[in-house]
Amino acid sequence: MRERNAMTSRHVENRDKFWLEEAGRLHWFKEPMVASDVSWDAEDFHIRWYEDGVLNASYQCLDRHLETRGEKTAILWEGDDPSVSEAITYREAHEEVCRMANVLKARGVGKGDRVILYMPMTPEAAYAMLACARIGAVHSVVFGGFSPEALASRIEDCGAVAVITADEARRGGKTVPLKENVDRAIERAGKAGDAVHLVLTVRVTGAKVGFEDGRDLWWHTSRDDVTKECPSEPMAAEDPLFILYTSGSTGKPKGVVHTTGGYMVYASYTHEKIFEVAEDDVYWCTADVGWITGHSYIVYGPLANGVTTLMFEGVPTYPDASRMWEVVDKHKVAQIYTAPTAIRALMREGDGPVKKTSRASLKLLGTVGEPINPEAWRWYHEVVGEGRCPIVDTWWQTETGGVLITPLPSDPMTKPGAATKPMPGIMPALVDNDGNPLDGAAEGNLILTESWPGQARGVWGDQERFIQTYFSTYPGRYFTGDGARRDEGGDYWITGRVDDVLNVSGHRMGTAEIESALVAHPSVAEAAVVGYPHDIKGQGVHCYVILNQGTEPTDALAKTLRGHVREEIGPVATPDRVQLAPGLPKTRSGKIMRRILRKIAEGHPDQLGDTSTLAEPQVVDALIDGAKQFE
Ligand code: WTA
Repeated sequence: MRERNAMTSRHVENRDKFWLEEAGRLHWFKEPMVASDVSWDAEDFHIRWYEDGVLNASYQCLDRHLETRGEKTAILWEGDDPSVSEAITYREAHEEVCRMANVLKARGVGKGDRVILYMPMTPEAAYAMLACARIGAVHSVVFGGFSPEALASRIEDCGAVAVITADEARRGGKTVPLKENVDRAIERAGKAGDAVHLVLTVRVTGAKVGFEDGRDLWWHTSRDDVTKECPSEPMAAEDPLFILYTSGSTGKPKGVVHTTGGYMVYASYTHEKIFEVAEDDVYWCTADVGWITGHSYIVYGPLANGVTTLMFEGVPTYPDASRMWEVVDKHKVAQIYTAPTAIRALMREGDGPVKKTSRASLKLLGTVGEPINPEAWRWYHEVVGEGRCPIVDTWWQTETGGVLITPLPSDPMTKPGAATKPMPGIMPALVDNDGNPLDGAAEGNLILTESWPGQARGVWGDQERFIQTYFSTYPGRYFTGDGARRDEGGDYWITGRVDDVLNVSGHRMGTAEIESALVAHPSVAEAAVVGYPHDIKGQGVHCYVILNQGTEPTDALAKTLRGHVREEIGPVATPDRVQLAPGLPKTRSGKIMRRILRKIAEGHPDQLGDTSTLAEPQVVDALIDGAKQFE
């Protein structure tokens, strides 16, 4: 608490000084003299941090450690197969990254070009990110659980010139055909696919895959054709570092843009203060690099700080529910950072799989991605951490670059389920639906009133959409899309999304995206998707589907539609329930009343409230009746 208070006072005293001092944690080729220049007003919208500074993220994560930490393990890789692991030093990682950067360069990839990464959780995923950063190319990692269709639309949207992938990914004893998906995506992307002139493939499983001469390269052979030295490109602080696609309440996923200087300062700052990793600690974040958590807290934050970061190829439950704790013992992990959904899934297996391991190395436990229920928090604290490890429940978003609200390890841990207080330097507030500020203990919409270095700078190719989505609901302020409660002690409790975004196993999903996938099926006339509480996943996906006239509503068709969404978006978005319905509850002006659909999916048909404005009230009874199949 004392450190938090001291930092907060430093920020209050002089904000520019505070953030310039934090910038000092990085190695700059040219140090910034200006902290920020920000306006969130639509007329004169701009966000700039450290704009006169020059640096390189890859240099920051590798080169600067070579002298003092060259032989220290940078990446500790744990394979899907429990008998496989590998320790890669900072020197070795530096060499691999330089080689990969040189392979990209040799094929004409350079500063400002976009490169899609569709990777398994192997060290090469980190090399690929850092190789792009090294030459100033902008990477966009697409999670391996997305379909060729989803991949194609991202290739198109960002205008990628190269894709880095693997033959296959291994996960929980199964494989995912990454290269085959890339080939299909490039084909589907048409002209945009033709613009991809390099597909660099890492050999992981050795599966036979297609190979297009002139376009495709194998990493394991091309790495030997280049040298192991590659200078890092001097980048202006505001040059983009990466694009990451994320779901919103409307339309297709947005390419959120993060720039170099501010993002790196914020990732490094938050990683140090939240996780307190000592020089010899092994730190483990279980996220996938396809999500922002993997970007900031597997790769950029920890490596910028010279930490040993554990990268895990598999899943927490393979080969069995003890795996996570066995990995902790095997590598003497000091900090674990994972999602509530994983904790709930493991909690269901009882204490046995945890207690048969020692976990003596653990010092701190973290959670991210969704609200953690107090029961799961307590189990994590008492069973996993044996009551001795502080828990950091970190609230943030793809758009925020790093954690904004969280307990710090030295804070008293008395509020299971509360994200508690803002990071020093962060200014959250609550407002009602009209934007009026709410003081003291209150519940409302969570906003930020001031910029911070890690904030996203835009939406790729559509700055209007960026301003519209985040800064127009409450003009001049950043709207998070989350609701929160602030208690008497000033601690924040995140209550979840207040918009049409779902959070399924900690993965963000737009209802609009799933709906448009459903209506793309020839049998479907209309669809509405809502979330409902799910014991393990946090939220499940409930789809109400209206079929075209004359189409038979059968169980087989419902199953086909589930598969169809999986094909269109990817396994991550597979609906839990498909309810074939005769109609949707609409107002006379034709607006779907989602509130009613949510209540029915939640199993509370008794709480529908006023339904008198509906055009066809009898539809509701049919929907309630139809939902009984899921009880
Ligand atoms: C939710 C993940 C409660 C929230 C880093 C947010 C959380 C969305 C927490 C962003 C938390 C994240 N407690 N809810 N500790 N952390 N969320 O962009 O609804 O994948 O808006 O970033 O996850 O998800 P995203």
